[in-house]
Amino acid sequence: MNVGIDKISFFVPPYYIDMTELAQVRNVDPGKYMIGIGQSEMAIGPSSQDIVTYAANAANKILTDEDKKAIDLVIVGTESSFDESKASAVILHRLLGIQDFARSFEIKEACYGATAGLEAAKNHISRHPESKALVIAADIARYGLNNGGEPTQGAGAVAMLISSQPKILALSDDTINLTQDIYDFWRPTGHAYPLVDGPLSNETYINSFNKVYNRYSKEYQESFGDFAALAFHIPYTKMGKKALQSVLPQASEQDATRLLERYDESITYSRRVGNLYTGSLYLGLISLLENSTALKAGDKLGLFSYGSGAVSQFFTGILQSGYEKHLLKDYHQALLLQRTKLTISAYEKMFNEYVDYNKTTTFNDELPFSIAKIEDNIRFYHN
Ligand code: COA
Repeated sequence: MNVGIDKISFFVPPYYIDMTELAQVRNVDPGKYMIGIGQSEMAIGPSSQDIVTYAANAANKILTDEDKKAIDLVIVGTESSFDESKASAVILHRLLGIQDFARSFEIKEACYGATAGLEAAKNHISRHPESKALVIAADIARYGLNNGGEPTQGAGAVAMLISSQPKILALSDDTINLTQDIYDFWRPTGHAYPLVDGPLSNETYINSFNKVYNRYSKEYQESFGDFAALAFHIPYTKMGKKALQSVLPQASEQDATRLLERYDESITYSRRVGNLYTGSLYLGLISLLENSTALKAGDKLGLFSYGSGAVSQFFTGILQSGYEKHLLKDYHQALLLQRTKLTISAYEKMFNEYVDYNKTTTFNDELPFSIAKIEDNIRFYHN
């Protein structure tokens, strides 16, 4: 039986900044952000929008009434949770109108959470092929203003419907996982921003990719020639490229050229959005599928998921016949085009917006599924 991604979509907040402008205000050579880090634009959202609003908007685009009746598992992967107890998946379950007899929960392991969710969903659908599962990666990547991590922020969500008749990507059972207890990026309870050892996170990411990819090739006797493309977790677009380049000396020139070309197609959207934390790998996958004309049904894709701390996984999938007809390319491109560009001072103001969740606050946001009101520390959403 094939189990995998039946539908997939992303949603990002309706505002962004230009990275050249940010560099100028921060007295940094724009080449550092545009080329060294590899980011052109960065998504930013107001305080009337949160991971639930991004997740609901992403999922609502792909779900039909029939899907909502068949879904019995809702998983959110996030590291931007706003509640230590109640899962955002429970709120989403209601907002999206999914039938009552479903299991809903949230998974945390830095940027790896959604991949853990995908694995759980795959196992569930393998045992219950008549069901469907909704896996959402939703995050607001924040490092603070005026620091090394600032150009690698972003926000948004990716929603995936998992079924036993996947129209886009059938996931294989061949995976390699790796866990290493490393403090490269962590956010102790109560901290608004993560603590980051940037160079260590870069180094751990690259080492982890080498370890899981090489073990995968050995265990499953596959090499670069078997992959039409490799998709990476993309905290910033240069990161995945560094990891890919670190293994390419083992590849033929033809394989290296192909994988680098596909990599460039996979970063088209991330370059304009920034970091989605758990969603970054899947935004990269959408970008690859929607921007590559070289891929075809039957092609094998390799996916590298990385969550600081650190957990990583290399897994694979096969593109399904007619997959391109089920992508939402026009919608996604319009979503990016229709955003409003903010000046750097407007971005800083939005970034610093303070909301006292202990006080009743109402918002006037036109975005579907935005926060309407906060009362008694409960967020009420427009839907
Ligand atoms: N033109 C072109 N490139 C330039 C440049 C210029 N004018 N100025 C600098 N660069 C290049 C640097 O050479 C470097 O390239 P390299 O990595 O290939 O050597 C790159 O820009 C970044 O410069 P660096 O000085 O290393 O940046 P930084 O100290 O500000 O830190 C991060 C970069 C990514 C570590 C930092 O943004 C961060 O901590 N991000 C959050 C953590 C993260 O995303 N980790 C990734 C793994 S999950």
